[in-house]
Amino acid sequence: MFSKAAKAAAVVGIAALALTACGRADTGGGTGGTAAAGFPKDALIGVALPQKTSENWVLAEQLFNDGLKEAGFKADVQFANGGVSEQQNQISAMVTKGAKVIVVGAIDGSQLGTQLAQAKSAGATVIAYDRLVKNTDAVDYYVAYDNFKVGELQGQALLEGMQAKKPSGPYNIELFAGSPDDANAKVFFDGAMSVLKPKIDDGTLKVVSGQATFEQAVTQGWKAENAQKRMDTLLAANYTSAPLDGVLSPNDTLARAIITSVKSAGKPIPVVTGQDSEVESVKSIMAGEQYSTINKDTRNLVKQAIDMVKQLQSGQKASVNDEKSYDNGVKVVPAYLLPPVIVTKANAKEAYANDPTLSQLTQ
Ligand code: BGC
Repeated sequence: MFSKAAKAAAVVGIAALALTACGRADTGGGTGGTAAAGFPKDALIGVALPQKTSENWVLAEQLFNDGLKEAGFKADVQFANGGVSEQQNQISAMVTKGAKVIVVGAIDGSQLGTQLAQAKSAGATVIAYDRLVKNTDAVDYYVAYDNFKVGELQGQALLEGMQAKKPSGPYNIELFAGSPDDANAKVFFDGAMSVLKPKIDDGTLKVVSGQATFEQAVTQGWKAENAQKRMDTLLAANYTSAPLDGVLSPNDTLARAIITSVKSAGKPIPVVTGQDSEVESVKSIMAGEQYSTINKDTRNLVKQAIDMVKQLQSGQKASVNDEKSYDNGVKVVPAYLLPPVIVTKANAKEAYANDPTLSQLTQ
């Protein structure tokens, strides 16, 4: 039933158990908190991923499987393409199977409270991955690229891209946001608006449709077809004669949908932002179509999450570098935030130098 590797890991696990027992004796009852006495080195680690709405999630699956196994753990990595209830069931199953850490990339950050509470009472540690889990105290850590910063960089890129084409405004723009059930979507939008709103207020930027709130800009399910449809409608209603200078797009999948819409309306391509460094978008940037993307190297984020799991395994607390920014409505979740990098055609070669796939596209 077990592979050789799993058996070897089990032996290591027994040794770890012995160590763990010593650790417990040393602390003599301990001080409590999330960093108890660790857990066996071959423990089961659950990773609940959302739908495959962008390439980064697909990359994460492989990286978690490989990285956790390489570290000696058993990995249970699941996608929930069927939606929220499927993800809820997957997390419950991970708890039943005895997962010691559950890493969650939530589809809907506010609908996992019950399952994560089960995880906590079974003694598991919960790490929110990439997306924050909201309105529950049953989340111990958050690991992500700094989402507000992503939005700020997108807002700045939009301005700079338009200024490079036409030195002074006013500029006509439209705004797109991500899926409202994903806690990140509002943070990206708020980050971008922290840069754009003052320019809207002083007249440098004009949202011609008037649709400038998050609620008006959202794209359900992060679906390309929804963004494309909304762009078609915006163009038909507002841009039969007026030029469109720029579009704030929260990620690459939606950026390409927006560009498709503009092209099929026979309009010149405006400055369009993005995020994720997806292969097709990097190609588009190199071809001079999409203006920018964000590099949030999935390899580094998964590595950071696995490092946190290893720290927990050995009985330490996981490292964090931010204990103030991510209030989930019930608690401020201690976070480890990585820095996102803005990429345009001008710095793509340098930005992807260490990425074996993307560096091929920037030669
Ligand atoms: C991620 C983005 C991604 C989006 C859609 C967000 O939560 O942070 O990188 O583009 O989900 O998959």
